[in-house]
Amino acid sequence: MSMAALCTDRVLLNDWHVIADLTNLAIDAPFQTHLLGVDLTVYRRGRYGSEVIRNDTGAMVNATRRYGFLWACLGTPEREIVFVPEAEEPDRHLVTGGSIAVKVSGLRAVENFLDMGHFRFVHTGWLGDEPHTEVAPYKVELTLADELVATECQFYQPVASPTAREGFIVDYVYKVIRPYTVALYKSNPVQKNRLDVITLFVQPVDQENCVAHPFLTYLKDGIEEAGIRSFMQLIFAQDKPILENQVPRRLPLDPRAETPDAVAVLYRRWLRDKSVTYGAIPARM
Ligand SMILES: [Fe+2]
Repeated sequence: MSMAALCTDRVLLNDWHVIADLTNLAIDAPFQTHLLGVDLTVYRRGRYGSEVIRNDTGAMVNATRRYGFLWACLGTPEREIVFVPEAEEPDRHLVTGGSIAVKVSGLRAVENFLDMGHFRFVHTGWLGDEPHTEVAPYKVELTLADELVATECQFYQPVASPTAREGFIVDYVYKVIRPYTVALYKSNPVQKNRLDVITLFVQPVDQENCVAHPFLTYLKDGIEEAGIRSFMQLIFAQDKPILENQVPRRLPLDPRAETPDAVAVLYRRWLRDKSVTYGAIPARM
């Protein structure tokens, strides 16, 4: 199978995917991108419009804008774009994180985002530290909305956020919303009863390449947009080389292939149940 093999997974073809951060679209020059193995050209139309054309057939693709991104659906949209309720709250910064291209399957990028076990190795001194090596037990469940949610995740982090002055035990909730979309909720350091949210929209470029589009909705209290963005980019720069060294680049769905932790086991099963094969190595029957 070639890397640019076309996607046949209905669940992915008929869903919306981020294909660009709007700040990267110039008024006067077309923008080239790729989605599920298909080459696309984006043309700006006026101040707010965009037209997305398939390079192979010349056909127009469904496209719309939301949360500072341009979205496309190659098939017939069966679902709405992922709803981020926190984006409606006026006391939050809405920050796009700058389209990070990674040479790995987007499913690997989602799984890495869910993995607390890598904090102390990959984000040493920031999200993890040597004496605090244990990942405490947490709960994972499938919701009625068919989302995978991990709760009661706790981890000691030396520098948990751009405003953290000292290390503390951070509470996390993870939610896998779509095959290529995952969100992380963590306690705000100032307003402890509210959560900062990072949603990671992963653009499947092809089976072994993706672009990560982080969307951060952080309470404005005591923090500037630039600080949020640079912290996120610092953390993601630590993940990128680790992700690009993953072998194989696609995510194996066979439960015997690797020994991931509890949430990753369920993520892989959930992908199998949805017949997601794009970016994966399907399980042997
Ligand atoms: Fe990481």
